[in-house]
Amino acid sequence: MRGVGTVVPDRASGVGAGVELTTARGLLAVADAPATRNLALTVSAGCVRSARVWVRVDHQRPLLVPVGSAGWHTVFVPSRIAAGVHTFRLRPARLPRHAPACAPPAVSRLDFMPSSSALLPLLGTAMRSQDPSANSLSPLTADPRYLATFLGNFDSLTPENELKMLFTEPTEGTFDFAPADSLVSLAAANGKQVRGHTLIWSDELPAWLTNPLLPWSPGGLLDVMRQYITTVMQHYGRQIDTWDVVNEAFQDDGSYTQSVWYDVLGPSYIADAYAIAHQADPAAKLFYNDIGAEANNPKQQAILSMVNALRAQGVEIDGIGMENHTNAPGYPTDPQLEQTMSQYAQLGLRVEITEMDVETQGTAPADALTAQADAYRAAATACWDVAACDRFTTWGFSDAVSWVGAQQAADLFDTNFQPKPAFAAVDGALFRGAFAPPVPAAARH
Ligand code: XIL
Repeated sequence: MRGVGTVVPDRASGVGAGVELTTARGLLAVADAPATRNLALTVSAGCVRSARVWVRVDHQRPLLVPVGSAGWHTVFVPSRIAAGVHTFRLRPARLPRHAPACAPPAVSRLDFMPSSSALLPLLGTAMRSQDPSANSLSPLTADPRYLATFLGNFDSLTPENELKMLFTEPTEGTFDFAPADSLVSLAAANGKQVRGHTLIWSDELPAWLTNPLLPWSPGGLLDVMRQYITTVMQHYGRQIDTWDVVNEAFQDDGSYTQSVWYDVLGPSYIADAYAIAHQADPAAKLFYNDIGAEANNPKQQAILSMVNALRAQGVEIDGIGMENHTNAPGYPTDPQLEQTMSQYAQLGLRVEITEMDVETQGTAPADALTAQADAYRAAATACWDVAACDRFTTWGFSDAVSWVGAQQAADLFDTNFQPKPAFAAVDGALFRGAFAPPVPAAARH
């Protein structure tokens, strides 16, 4: 069976141009597509359980896409397509043999997601090359399951502490990149992205900075900041394209956090940090990152005012990191997160969930895993739904290696590196299943 699809303008779906093609048997469509990384198929499983559709673009490797339910609905298929004419082959994986009254799986529409909304969020996690207390082995050395779980399940890593000034400039003017370098090379060797965290923060600072022999002059401290940001960013160059330039500058009531930076330089230290970072690497994506500002509150208002003030001064800022450290009984909901993300998106900012974990103490043990999965699903769904959200990062991935301790069971994998219900929730909400490689012929029955 062959057919030729026709490019139709966007209609109610709001997903962009597409191909109209109702078929239950398989279809060959030749269509002039815009550049995209994501196709949307309107499908129905009919009465077939576990129905799947083969999708092949040109001569790329075919993808086997699960079709969830009987009613018409949309499934997303990641597929990098350059603008131009392409051949799309769609075929239900297996037709029912004896079911005359049974509706077969069908595909009714193929849409090309606009590229702005087509970038699938990456799944990232914090990783450690060293134990922060430095009295036990790095998890990388201590347990091979740590690296294997990261490599098998995540697209991106954030060094948990290694890029903080305490470690990178332990003595004034002497930089130590060894701990961070080991993570950055590990990422590069395995095709993973890296988030740079964090250039200017109130915490994890070396003693020479916080307890100087002579009090800092504003000019002297600004020189330290300039040398620090420039040296660190240029050391990594294109290996790290996204940086948390300033971290946690506000308190819950929206006032500024006290720190050596704020105390000596005043609030203008924030604009200085972004201006220096932009000069150091004009191509880098510059983020502001904070905790407890996921829902509308005084801290989130302070962040919005800061962005507006930076823009008014012509200072570049590209995105906001929402840490989303939370707990199972009281997590931010999907609508709350989407509202906050959309406010940033309206200002032309990118957003990321940057440090999510979900503590479970305080939840009845019988409900803890489900409530935790709900919390993770809410944030992953928000990140999927808001096109400005590029990455969903958790603060560690195993309860065995967590800054809040194993007793909080806050992560996606348990202490034995087994996935918890929360992992399936995130995996599903980010449609990562659609990336599954085609099932080998031998396993297709
Ligand atoms: C935490 C690390 O996870 C700990 O190992 C370290 O002892 C303290 O810092 N917000 C941030 C992160 O931006 O850098 C913090 O990381 C957690 C809260």
